[in-house]
Amino acid sequence: MKIRVSDKLNKLPPYIFSRINQLKPLAIAKKLDIIDLGMGNPDMPTPQHIVDRMCDTVKNHIRTHRYPQAKGMPKFRCAVSEWFHERFGVKINPETEVLALIGSKEGVAHLCMTYLNPGDIALVPDPGYPVYYNGVALAGGIVYKMPLLAKNKFLPDLSKIPAKIARKARIMFLNYPNNPTTAIVEDMKLFKEAIRFAKKYNVIIVHDNAYSELTFDGYVSPSFLQVPGARDVGIEYHSFSKTFSMAGWRVGFVVGNENIIKPLEKFKSFVDYGVPTFIQLSGVCALKSPKDCVKETIEAYRRRRDKFTTELGKIGWQIEKPKATMYLWAKLPEKFKAIGSLKFAEKLLMETGVVVTPGVGFGEYGEGYVRFSLVTHDNRFHDAALRIKQFLK
Ligand SMILES: Cc1ncc(COP(=O)(O)O)c(C=O)c1O
Repeated sequence: MKIRVSDKLNKLPPYIFSRINQLKPLAIAKKLDIIDLGMGNPDMPTPQHIVDRMCDTVKNHIRTHRYPQAKGMPKFRCAVSEWFHERFGVKINPETEVLALIGSKEGVAHLCMTYLNPGDIALVPDPGYPVYYNGVALAGGIVYKMPLLAKNKFLPDLSKIPAKIARKARIMFLNYPNNPTTAIVEDMKLFKEAIRFAKKYNVIIVHDNAYSELTFDGYVSPSFLQVPGARDVGIEYHSFSKTFSMAGWRVGFVVGNENIIKPLEKFKSFVDYGVPTFIQLSGVCALKSPKDCVKETIEAYRRRRDKFTTELGKIGWQIEKPKATMYLWAKLPEKFKAIGSLKFAEKLLMETGVVVTPGVGFGEYGEGYVRFSLVTHDNRFHDAALRIKQFLK
């Protein structure tokens, strides 16, 4: 039988982590000990009280074994609304302005399917979290890249988007704190500009706030929905994956404009049944419990950030300490610029066992950088830096 996949899927290269993951067994075969700073996959366990709630629910509440309420059970939506108000001072109607998601990645991909006709344009940050680009491509849309440049503090310059592109655009993605650049918004200027842009050109603003809680040194990350007018034009994604180290549980939510959320709910009703009830209840437990566990998580990432930037600084690789996220966004050392980030990452893995993500995997403007994820035990960073030192020599 001749198996043919769709042109849309065919056109996409393998997911960035796949290529590097394919090399890992080869590195292990060479007896290399792997230090994996590649994927943003939290290494810390989900806090015990959330795990306990999940076990208790599955064991003692058999009704939770049935199909869930796809848009999120009332308890889940109310917990989101209360948390949002407490955290950002923004009121969210739990009935109409919250939708539970099987992780924000799922919600972003399905949003593209919900809103894009073939040939419609989506404004996508580059470098950016790959699902923006791939979600648009799979929906048959056209990606217009908004470069995130160091000279602009990795914020997009909306004034550079030509009017004829803007008129054809349906969606604009924003993401602060940013993956992979670790950039933050220092004020609401970008969000205000985006709202003006959205109103002028009738574009939906999608703000991905997956890292809202992973911030350091007194920085508090805002919500897009805090800006007047944001709810008229946009929605915001949130995730339990990083805040509560629940990446494998697959749960997140989107909040904001009910007229934007409703069609997404309709689309999802055709392709999934929502987040399992016992996972939703674990999410409620996470949102409603004291946040000591989140403080500990932040503290762990801060400690690793400080340690690794210091260690890398000692070997001559200066990296600015980020104010948020669980990553370091590092310019390739000068003498490796010519080979590019993918070759650099491959060579580093095959010669030292240290896994990093090549910047080019996040888009063409990510070339010249690599991303380190701070997702291994504290005592591995010294060793990682020593191996990198050898390699750079
Ligand atoms: C910017 C951004 N958004 C969303 C996600 C995925 O979140 P979830 O696990 O909720 O799908 C990630 C994961 O790395 C991310 O970096």
